[in-house]
Amino acid sequence: MAENASTGLGEPPSVAALSVAETATTPAKHLTEQEINPWDVQAGTDEHGNTLEFDYVAISQKWNTKLLDKATLERFEKLTGKKPHRWLRRGLFFSHRDFDLILDCYERGDPFMLYTGRGPSAGSLHVGHSIPFEFTKWLQDVFDVPLVIMLTDDEKFLFKEGLTVEAVKQFSKENAKDVIAMGYDLQKTFIYSDFMFMGSGSNGHFYENSMEFSKLVNFNQMRGAFGYDGSTSSGRVFFPNLQCVAAFASSYPFIWGDDIEADRKATTAAIPCLIPCAIDQDPYFRLVRDNSLRMPRPSPKPALIHSKFLTSLQGAGGKMSASVPMSAIFLDDTPNQIKKKINASFSGGQETLELHQELGGNPDVDVPYQYLCYFEDDDEKLDRFYDAYKKGEMLTGEMKKECITLLQSYVKGFQEARAKVTDDVVKDYMKPRKLEWKGNPNPTKS
Ligand code: TYM
Repeated sequence: MAENASTGLGEPPSVAALSVAETATTPAKHLTEQEINPWDVQAGTDEHGNTLEFDYVAISQKWNTKLLDKATLERFEKLTGKKPHRWLRRGLFFSHRDFDLILDCYERGDPFMLYTGRGPSAGSLHVGHSIPFEFTKWLQDVFDVPLVIMLTDDEKFLFKEGLTVEAVKQFSKENAKDVIAMGYDLQKTFIYSDFMFMGSGSNGHFYENSMEFSKLVNFNQMRGAFGYDGSTSSGRVFFPNLQCVAAFASSYPFIWGDDIEADRKATTAAIPCLIPCAIDQDPYFRLVRDNSLRMPRPSPKPALIHSKFLTSLQGAGGKMSASVPMSAIFLDDTPNQIKKKINASFSGGQETLELHQELGGNPDVDVPYQYLCYFEDDDEKLDRFYDAYKKGEMLTGEMKKECITLLQSYVKGFQEARAKVTDDVVKDYMKPRKLEWKGNPNPTKS
């Protein structure tokens, strides 16, 4: 097992167990293996066909990422003076590539940027999406660096049947409002839709990078990363180039200077990038890491920090889906919908009250408890719930009630913030422009 494996195994166990302690389990016998890629996320099934939990250590080993260890979190705290976010403390962000190099940059005071994104497949985000976005906002506050957020409406047009260009562009605008409502600082954040930005707003830099990059990547590499075959549309074969070059600072040279027309490609190409996302997006970024140094103006390999998946309401082993309403809490759900969905969610409790009191429940597979692990800040309270549930002292209904109250309040807070995001506010965030951040390091003048 890799050094300092964080819990990694399945969804959040108790907070105590999550203190980047190492947990080893006997691997289950699989009938089908887990499948994780940007478009399909399924845990495997056991020999009886039952869905297993995700094996995050296995995926980290398979893809050769590093598990986030205690020493890295301690270094982070020492450098930034900030206690690691609860999702770091609890091992929910569990893996990385070159996060230590980003900390080196921070230590030296060198510039770097953050990059994350969303594929607008529906009008509203679900709470699973809020994980990378909330976390990125927190990182932006801690590091005080520029951030770009890519809305891949072109990806959704190409990969989801039945969506028109007009529909996905409209989803981009709606999703931009959701993203802005997470509280990003306008001075430091540029949000763009691929259709709108590449069509007219990028002054050609992004497109030039896409062409240069696509010339380096052959079909075998695309097939290796994404499993394409001869029937894959050529649009799908090309699209990953775009999500890749979005990690190059030189795709947005205007961020570093007022004169929007200036060509500062050579100087901005060297600025590193950190990408927070769930682990399903990693295949894109392996491709860019394999090729970024081969670009005509070489760019550093982007660093990544990966999260686990907030499980679907049906239980461990599934990812929420924007097209399956009962699989997820959406950020536009009403309090009543939230209540209904949590009440119907998968429980780790026993079949009857008597049995539950006698045998205790299993918080490790209990969806309401797992959601509490993501959204409840109080470590001590979570530990109490974990123990009481295991002993059968806390009942299924009580766990669900706690979860309903917390999620109703989280979604209400979000909806109040979103109501303030007007179309004009969206335009401000989506305008290509120079960004401002602490020290405003300007590599073009150094
Ligand atoms: P999309 O829209 O599928 O997902 C947006 C972000 O949410 C993460 N995510 C989740 N995280 C935790 N629990 C879940 N249940 C869950 N479901 C989704 C995804 O990993 C992602 O970080 N192609 C991308 C858009 C994109 C992007 C990027 C994402 C473009 N550039 C850079 C991350 C980083 C997509 O369709 O994401």
